[in-house]
Amino acid sequence: MRRAVQPLSLCLLSLLLLSQLCSGIKWLAISRTPSLLHVNRTQQCKQLQGLVSSQVQLCRSNLELMPTIIQAAREVKKTCQKTFTDMRWNCSSIESGPQYLPDLERGTRESAFVYALSAAAISHTIARACTSGDLRLCSCGAMPGEIPEPGYRWGGCADNLHYGLVMGSKFSDAPMTMKKSGSLANKLMHLHNSEVGRQALRDALEMKCKCHGVSGSCSIRTCWRGLQDLKDIAMDLKTKYLSATKVVHRSMGTRKQLVPKDIDIRPVRANELVYLQSSPDFCSKNDKLGSVGTQDRQCNKTSNGSDSCDLMCCGRGYNPYMENLVERCHCKYHWCCYVTCKKCERTVERYVCK
Ligand SMILES: *[C@@H]1O[C@H](CO)[C@@H](O)[C@H](O)[C@H]1NC(C)=O
Ligand SMILES: *[C@@H]1O[C@H](CO)[C@@H](O)[C@H](O)[C@H]1NC(C)=O
Ligand SMILES: *[C@@H]1O[C@H](CO)[C@@H](O)[C@H](O)[C@H]1NC(C)=O
Ligand SMILES: *[C@@H]1O[C@H](CO)[C@@H](O)[C@H](O)[C@H]1NC(C)=O
Repeated sequence: MRRAVQPLSLCLLSLLLLSQLCSGIKWLAISRTPSLLHVNRTQQCKQLQGLVSSQVQLCRSNLELMPTIIQAAREVKKTCQKTFTDMRWNCSSIESGPQYLPDLERGTRESAFVYALSAAAISHTIARACTSGDLRLCSCGAMPGEIPEPGYRWGGCADNLHYGLVMGSKFSDAPMTMKKSGSLANKLMHLHNSEVGRQALRDALEMKCKCHGVSGSCSIRTCWRGLQDLKDIAMDLKTKYLSATKVVHRSMGTRKQLVPKDIDIRPVRANELVYLQSSPDFCSKNDKLGSVGTQDRQCNKTSNGSDSCDLMCCGRGYNPYMENLVERCHCKYHWCCYVTCKKCERTVERYVCK
């Protein structure tokens, strides 16, 4: 494939004009593409938001993949916010792409998570699209080489992880492989964390089986390799986020590379997320650091986790308010075949941070 190196790429342009780091996750902004727009002409690639020049090239030569990649970008936003709904930093700033706030531009722990999730999500979505027949270029994944145990046989349609990883990494790593795009340390960090995301995806491949046999006796099982849902992979990455390692860019042997800041005797591990810049506590608003603060965030008075009012509100206290819930109740089944329900109102007490 031809690598397009345009002298004045979008990335460099934004670097010069806005003196910002070139962010490798700008492509997530294509999630804003109107769902009615069919990307089926190469001219449309240039109009998609947030793509760097080499991604526009990939779009032109892989048009069929674009609806899947747009869907992947939507999955990243949704999944990131769901995974962090109980945390002070709740991934709301991912909405601001392609120009991100400092929380995602500065090489933080939070950006480490988003890069890993993005890399996992794009390959996940492509692998699943192969299986569901949405793409002409790929179909089911390869059958495992080993002979199955007695009573089991390979069948069904495996998620095409191989194709997902090849095409997904080509697209999502493209900004980091451009010559003029931010500091080398940042690029190394982003590439490492993206690879951690893809490893989490490989680890999420599990055996799925269907039973056959007389009246569900399950004497024969047909099995294939399928991927766990993205939300499960995101939970795995959240654990890695919580134990991420701070690194510095320094010479080790003949090359400069990322090494753990405090214990720099060991190299960076392949399964740990790394970051270069410490994050604030995200308690109060700070535009320079990209913190929106937790004022008016909902907290949970009975939880003792990160969504507890104590931790979420950083000791500032909280205000109760009443919320009316309207629920379906006293449901009756009518022969045959419908259900009627009444509406019941219930008031619950909720809390928001001061
Ligand atoms: C692209 O999709 C639109 C909307 O479905 C359709 O009207 C148009 O004919 C398609 N163009 C090509 C070149 O297939
Ligand atoms: C995240 O927090 C911000 C700032 O407090 C808030 O405006 C937003 O609604 C929250 N988003 C989600 C998805 O909870
Ligand atoms: C608050 O936390 C408790 C304990 O973790 C949980 O059972 C409850 O569902 C939570 N309430 C809300 C409104 O999320
Ligand atoms: C939270 O509460 C549960 C059940 O009461 C307990 O098992 C757990 O250890 C507590 N966690 C913390 C962080 O205090």
